[in-house]
Amino acid sequence: MLPIPAQVFVAGFAFTVLTAFAALAQTVNPADGRRLALSVCANCHVVPESRRESAMDAAPTFAAIANDPAMTDERLRHFLNQPHSQMPPIVIAREEIEDVIAYLRTIRRTPAKGRN
Ligand code: HEC
Repeated sequence: MLPIPAQVFVAGFAFTVLTAFAALAQTVNPADGRRLALSVCANCHVVPESRRESAMDAAPTFAAIANDPAMTDERLRHFLNQPHSQMPPIVIAREEIEDVIAYLRTIRRTPAKGRN
């Protein structure tokens, strides 16, 4: 019987570690969602912590969205998977959608700054 070369074990181990990291990278991260909300969504929506006032009256505040019981994860996912009706298409990755939803969950019941 031929001994199995050490490289096979090393490669196997490296693959396992890489797979574990890939899985980690895909975990939902509300902090990333917050960053995205502040950099992209805050251009039109009032986002808590953003110093900017809403640029568009038509856009609901993030506090309002977060506290709206009708805004289920499913509905947000569906909405964010397609372009908003009144704006240039925002392309955000599926992973970013999950991050933004997670972020919205962290600001639930946060009093809106300014109008709600
Ligand atoms: C260019 C302006 C603009 C940007 C940028 C923007 N939005 Fe909006 N958004 C709007 C407007 C206007 C509405 C209300 C009209 C509509 O539903 O299209 C809205 C509505 C929404 C709604 C409510 C949908 C509903 O059914 O009531 C959600 C949720 C939302 N936006 C999430 C986001 C998120 C998350 C981002 C950042 C990734 C974002 N928006 C970026 C303008 C914008």
